[in-house]
Amino acid sequence: MTTSAAARVAAMMAMVMVMIVEAANTNNVYQPCADTRIERWDGFSFGIAFSSRDSFFYNQNQSHQLSPCDRRLSLASSNSQLALFRPKVDEISLLTINTSTFQPDSYGGYMVAFAGRKYAARSPPAFVANSTYIVTSFTLVLEFQKGRLENLYWKRDGCAKCSGNSAFVCLNKQDCAIKTSSCKNRGGFVDCSIGIQLAFSGTDKHLSVLNSWYEVENLGQYSLYGLYSNLRDSLTSQYNKFF
Ligand SMILES: *[C@@H]1O[C@H](CO)[C@@H](O)[C@H](O)[C@H]1NC(C)=O
Ligand SMILES: *[C@@H]1O[C@H](CO)[C@@H](O)[C@H](O)[C@H]1NC(C)=O
Ligand SMILES: *[C@@H]1O[C@H](CO)[C@@H](O)[C@H](O)[C@H]1NC(C)=O
Repeated sequence: MTTSAAARVAAMMAMVMVMIVEAANTNNVYQPCADTRIERWDGFSFGIAFSSRDSFFYNQNQSHQLSPCDRRLSLASSNSQLALFRPKVDEISLLTINTSTFQPDSYGGYMVAFAGRKYAARSPPAFVANSTYIVTSFTLVLEFQKGRLENLYWKRDGCAKCSGNSAFVCLNKQDCAIKTSSCKNRGGFVDCSIGIQLAFSGTDKHLSVLNSWYEVENLGQYSLYGLYSNLRDSLTSQYNKFF
């Protein structure tokens, strides 16, 4: 390669890098309990609250679920834990919550994903763990309309992946659970860290369509674990029927 060609390549690479930096983020809202509109590749902040199932409902009314951002729930003063994430919109991501020092069952065992205040969205409560069982794999769908988060829900593909594997129990015909007693620090050898695969659907504020939903749909619930060696080694390799 001649010097000038090399220089041109270097200049081009610098340009590409600038473009990536510029495309990185236009969303300056970092609080999960605030409203925003996103475009593709923005960072987007949301939270996951862990608590008992009842604590996500107003006055224990099972048909009146509130966002964890709603002060009427007073989650902060109950037995709860909060995890905050800022993934890139429409980038397939695998979030992990390390359970070596955090045991979800000692905080009520359920989780709710949430973001927004006036336009508050929250997922239904998902069972994570009690003293007998722990579910370690989830897929969360974030659905946007014109860039505003409209809906959050857990996508389940049933227990097909764990049926026939004696290490797992199928709970409520939807979740593959491990016995808590097989987790590290609790008598067992499995790293029971929680993996949450994200999928984005709907449209951003420019009406561009978010695609990662289709990719996750095609790849399946456990597709990303193979890419993350520490999760694969610790969480699923003991149960290599996943791959
Ligand atoms: C529970 O919440 C629903 C929906 O907000 C409401 O219609 C219903 O009256 C509430 N029930 C009680 C017992 O408060
Ligand atoms: C744990 O949850 C499972 C599934 O919901 C249930 O069958 C079991 O009785 C629960 N165990 C305890 C100790 O609460
Ligand atoms: C969780 O943290 C422990 C202790 O720092 C570490 O050994 C383990 O590999 C972590 N698990 C994952 C899945 O990152």
